[in-house]
Amino acid sequence: MASPDPVFLRALRGETLERPPVWFMRQAGRYLPEYRALRARSPDFIAFCLNPEMAAEVTLQPMRRFGFDAAIVFADILLIPRAWGQEVWFEAGEGPRLGALPDVASMRDLAEGAGAALSEVGETLSRVRDALEPERALIGFAGAPWTVATYMLDGEARTIGKGERAQARTYAYAEPEKVDALLDVLVESSAWYLKMQADAGAQALKIFESWAEGLPDDLFDRLVLKPHQKLVARLRELGVTVPLIGFPRGSAALAEGYARDVDVQAVALDTACPLAVGRRVQTIKPIQGALDPLLLRAGGAALDRRVDQLMEAWGQGPWVFNLGHGILPDVPIAHVEQVLRRIGAQ
Ligand code: CP3
Repeated sequence: MASPDPVFLRALRGETLERPPVWFMRQAGRYLPEYRALRARSPDFIAFCLNPEMAAEVTLQPMRRFGFDAAIVFADILLIPRAWGQEVWFEAGEGPRLGALPDVASMRDLAEGAGAALSEVGETLSRVRDALEPERALIGFAGAPWTVATYMLDGEARTIGKGERAQARTYAYAEPEKVDALLDVLVESSAWYLKMQADAGAQALKIFESWAEGLPDDLFDRLVLKPHQKLVARLRELGVTVPLIGFPRGSAALAEGYARDVDVQAVALDTACPLAVGRRVQTIKPIQGALDPLLLRAGGAALDRRVDQLMEAWGQGPWVFNLGHGILPDVPIAHVEQVLRRIGAQ
């Protein structure tokens, strides 16, 4: 018997299904007691990501508990800077911090080796693919060049305009050659890294542009659209055929242009994307999103109401149900189950 075609992949190909396939951004994480238990055994987060046995286990945890339609490999967008020698650490409650930016020319020499440098992530993917039922899909990912660059350029100076990546954006204006060269290196490195993931069993690849937010349109074009176009073209040149999902977070006003201009197969929308904009994007290609992660904290009637609104607005077109951003550590498990029941996935 032919192996079943995962509903997640069918939606990415443009099919409208009886109910939308569902997975949650950051579905492996601290809201799960079984995650916290394993994580406590590895205080260093990066080492945890690079331990295939542990990373495969935490990737599978939410699959066993909730039966999501897709798993996303447990890793982090900051593994690439780490692989190129930039120190990465996490300050409790404050997010990532990075050390001094490595020399761009030396990173350029290493770009082709990105897959080999992060072969542990490939090992995690193969383990997960072996353990996962055939009807569930496996997603690989990387940070988009600009988002990774903002962390690399901001380094430790994260107090300066945190939410707007003010430091990195200032560099983008003041030192365009340096920033564009860094973006090119990240395009090339990410292409090889993602190719390795597809070879290891990833059936779709997501490009996380978490900081597409707040950019004037000329910068959006230069820092988001162009690097995404180059990355997609490079992936196809390297023989990668799996569907690609772009996530230009915070760019609702520009999301339609993104959907038209970047040759990804689906566009992931964020919390603040109006339902009507999502509908329009959906006429161009499949969408993914975009429940407010804070509703998962709130639960109750408000959660049901918004799930119904999303179903009403987007249920007719190709759509993967997801959050508009990552799940928060204090979300009650019962609220995740509430959503799954509401959309008929449990
Ligand atoms: O979704 C999944 O389950 C897969 C795993 C995943 C992680 N990070 C694990 C993680 C994915 C897809 C990411 C992507 C990622 N990492 C992004 C893009 C998505 C987004 O949220 O916009 C970004 C910007 C990062 C960088 C990063 N890594 C941040 C901002 C943080 C949070 C820091 C904190 O303390 O809250 C991390 C750490 C991280 N990555 C955690 C997890 C589960 C929490 C760390 C822990 O367990 O202590």
